Amino acid sequence: MAVREVIQKSDMLLRKTSKEVKVFDEKLEQLIDDMWDTMYTNDGMGLAAVQVGMLKRVIVMDVNNMKLELVNPVIISQSGCDIEEEGCLSCGKIRGKVKRPMVVTVSAQDRYGYHFQITGEKYLARCLCHEIDHLNGILFIDKLEKE
Ligand code: NI
Repeated sequence: MAVREVIQKSDMLLRKTSKEVKVFDEKLEQLIDDMWDTMYTNDGMGLAAVQVGMLKRVIVMDVNNMKLELVNPVIISQSGCDIEEEGCLSCGKIRGKVKRPMVVTVSAQDRYGYHFQITGEKYLARCLCHEIDHLNGILFIDKLEKE
């Protein structure tokens, strides 16, 4: 495992669309393990692969003491609305309020390619949406609520 550099918002790589993972091999496992190291070293709660320079549809998050690894995540349903503050390891100290769904259900694969679904509400739903946005080149600062 190794800590990788977290790229910052001026880096245009963060604006690219990450590619679907089709090969579930040791390189993918290495990437995910490194993402955990990188996230915890930076006191983050979630991280997308693009933030360590890899345009792959992979995210990790640790929310409510639940460690989640999601490969090729897709939001399959969402409902409600919740406005809370967010930050991002790629956006320095910027924080701001963002509107997100209250509940989302996400379909994804694990590091071995097995499919699963997860439903999250409130903060977990928020983190899922924030990280999936990264895979589509979107940052939370694009969605800030007008105060
Ligand atoms: Ni982020």
